[in-house]
Amino acid sequence: MIRSTRKTLKRAGLAAAAALLFVSVAAGGGFAAAATTTSGEAVLAEQAGGLGSLVADYKTRSASRYTGDSWAPFAKALETATDVAADASATAPEVAAAKTALMSAAGELEAADEGTFQTITNNTFWNDTSGSPIYSQGGGVFKFGDTYYWYGVHYLGAESYRANPTQKYDNQVSFVSIPVYSSRDLVNWKFENRVATRSTPINNGATLGQAGWVGRLGVSYNENTGKYVLATQAYVGGGHGVLFLQGDSPTDTFDYAYFQTQITNSPTTGTGDQTVFTDDDGKDYLIFSNREGRSRAFVSKFRESDSLRLEPGAQIGQNSSGREGNAMFKLDGKYYHAASDLHGWNTSVNYVIESSSVQSGYSGEYVLAGTEMDYSHVTQTGFFVTVKGTKQNTVIYAGDRWADFAWNGIGYNQWVPITRTGARPQFHSMTQWQFNVTTGEWRVGPANNYILNPNIQADRIVVSQVRGWTNTGGGVTNVSPGANGSRFALQLGSGSAGVRQQITVPAGTYKLSTYAKTAGSVSGAQLSVTDATGATRTLSIPSSSGWTRRDSAEFQLAAGAATVNVRTSGGTLTVDDLALVKTSGDDPPPVGQRYEAETAPAVCQGTIDSNHAGFTGTGFCNASNAVGSYAQFTANAAAAGTTTLGVRFANGGSAARTANLIVNGSTVATVSFENTGGWTTWSTKSLTVSLNAGSNTIQLSPTVADGLPNIDHLNVGSA
Ligand code: GCU
Ligand code: CA
Repeated sequence: MIRSTRKTLKRAGLAAAAALLFVSVAAGGGFAAAATTTSGEAVLAEQAGGLGSLVADYKTRSASRYTGDSWAPFAKALETATDVAADASATAPEVAAAKTALMSAAGELEAADEGTFQTITNNTFWNDTSGSPIYSQGGGVFKFGDTYYWYGVHYLGAESYRANPTQKYDNQVSFVSIPVYSSRDLVNWKFENRVATRSTPINNGATLGQAGWVGRLGVSYNENTGKYVLATQAYVGGGHGVLFLQGDSPTDTFDYAYFQTQITNSPTTGTGDQTVFTDDDGKDYLIFSNREGRSRAFVSKFRESDSLRLEPGAQIGQNSSGREGNAMFKLDGKYYHAASDLHGWNTSVNYVIESSSVQSGYSGEYVLAGTEMDYSHVTQTGFFVTVKGTKQNTVIYAGDRWADFAWNGIGYNQWVPITRTGARPQFHSMTQWQFNVTTGEWRVGPANNYILNPNIQADRIVVSQVRGWTNTGGGVTNVSPGANGSRFALQLGSGSAGVRQQITVPAGTYKLSTYAKTAGSVSGAQLSVTDATGATRTLSIPSSSGWTRRDSAEFQLAAGAATVNVRTSGGTLTVDDLALVKTSGDDPPPVGQRYEAETAPAVCQGTIDSNHAGFTGTGFCNASNAVGSYAQFTANAAAAGTTTLGVRFANGGSAARTANLIVNGSTVATVSFENTGGWTTWSTKSLTVSLNAGSNTIQLSPTVADGLPNIDHLNVGSA
């Protein structure tokens, strides 16, 4: 149960932290010298139940990267933890409390900058930061302190498929290990350790290698024991159950702790599928279905004393067809339980039930919007990661692509963002996107393919209506094999036939491409796209008996709805790897970056208030009513050049207020902020400035005694 908010730290950890501060004073600075040597830290890591290794890790953080407000409590917790780690007489509860306090403070660290966008590319095999393959299925990503840890299972079949991804590998799920990777941006993953391997001892003198099945695991932190508890499904010695392993640090080698065969209220032993969910209050839950039939969804709390038992399950859903891949996320205060069809690691839509409390009151089932076009980007539900950014909350859907191992396309881990637009969450299927873990913002990647189910992999069986595509006439089916050793392709004909797909595109320069082959007397074979203005761009496909790649010239598309068509008027046309991609060299659309006046590194010479409604973020800058009392922003520009600024303000005073606009120390304009008619009436002033590449200081400094109007935020790149 990792405590991730200050509120919970106050509730549970503060008394302990305060007591430890006293210990730290008493213990003096003896650790400081030892901590400077690696061997000293290694010894301490063992002595202090993993606290030493956490301390060593957190000592690598540097104050300049964080806001002062968030750094101060962290520095204090680190100092205390350092002393406890060095104190040979520290008790286990003291060590646990120091860990909890350190991770809570680390979890509250606020970056001093706006972060950066990192690129996630799906439909590829992912590597870790040292270039080695990531093999991680059916696990989860958990945030401990300021770091995300990704645990999953490395199965032997993953290696075979990666080495030769042009065939099926059935039932290749012999257990190899449970690797753990760490990341602070959720994109670049560093291999840390194998927390369990085939030789990890388990119950009854057996080892994990002897288990008939190991999979579907998650990890939580228990603040009472200071241990990280891994719960996985296991089939051991003829018994199904949840196997508990535990370690002293997130990347420790974990040891056997318990094997629980029955969770009260589940009709069967073991679980169907399962994941671990940690709520904002630090409580940890197992999300699971019953093993046989999988018709019931349960949420069971890990017992608080040590997280080594599951309390009776609360049944939150029921569907007689069965659901699996059970997983949970929480977005804007609501709990969402998602699951897939019950058909053996197949691709599936996501079925969601939602509630405002974790163990009861769930709605009826609905299909998560965006998962129906390509069966959740050709995956089964894996797990979710909820990121609370400084600008928005984004949930990452981590889909598993591992059907019979794993011939539904390249890559095992397909991650896409989920946001809430309106009442319900929306799944955004993309082949490439970019994510900023600091702000929580995401955007479409430059190489994204706007066509959904472009490789005809989603169905996995032969169908006459291909997922994501609407038949416009004639014979339509998917045939095997596809181009480039893939599993399926789309076949039209013989004779006149076609399919279409409705998509949404931003304006820009694009290119169409496909692999195609033909048979018989083909005429009018083509791939085309019609944009929102009705303009159609066509890639004609000449006859060829073998797979041939066809590329269109570049063309412009208007923003909005677009329709992709594939058709032939004669013969048989088979296509695969369809793509509609923005061409390289095309400038990404200008994206306005918003900087809130209340969010560091912004500076407000006055107070951050929230008494006049209508502001964005959590407040606005009410600068002191005096000449020179400024509001200042630090803004990043991708390249040097002229850009638009939008200053959102309210002026309910009696007259216009004038301020100097000071960019990187030079006054570049004088701006008049007129009366907006009231303090709750906000308006945006558009300005044009020249910025340097990288960081820029933008200050508004009043030249009148009334001071500034109230300043809400600054947009850079748009008004
Ligand atoms: C009022 C108003 C403030 C504002 C101030 C001003 O006190 O509530 O939000 O900043 O006037 O005149 O600047
Ligand atoms: Ca004021």
